[in-house]
Amino acid sequence: MDIFQILKKDHQKAKDLFKKLEGTGPRATKSREKLFSQLKNDLEAHSHGEEVAFYPALRENAEMVDLINEATEEHAEVANLLEELEELGPESEEWDSKLSQLKKNVLHHVKEEEGEIFKKAKEILEKEEIQTIGKEFQEAKKQATAS
Ligand SMILES: [Fe+2]
Repeated sequence: MDIFQILKKDHQKAKDLFKKLEGTGPRATKSREKLFSQLKNDLEAHSHGEEVAFYPALRENAEMVDLINEATEEHAEVANLLEELEELGPESEEWDSKLSQLKKNVLHHVKEEEGEIFKKAKEILEKEEIQTIGKEFQEAKKQATAS
């Protein structure tokens, strides 16, 4: 799989987890905890992989700098929300609204990435690079999950 296919698959997985979380009732704290912890691990590994393997190759291009900086800021916002949610826990009254805020941020980020960033990246990157970055991304993700 090339980097674009891999990222899309990851994005879909996150969307599915949001859906599953939304399908749980407020009293299903154990299920919510489990699903949330999976979502948190996935998103953190995903962001790390992108920042290590995907974004650096794009940042070399002057046209991409602003987009990539913005995307990196969005990763930081998502990371903050994940920490806040973990601290709150699913029993908290604020949980639902915080979770929808996270979902909104993630969906916005995914839209930008699969839209403008992918479009420009496909113009910039060579075929070979697209494969190499895919491998490097998977590797970086594995390391993030292992640590
Ligand atoms: Fe991202």
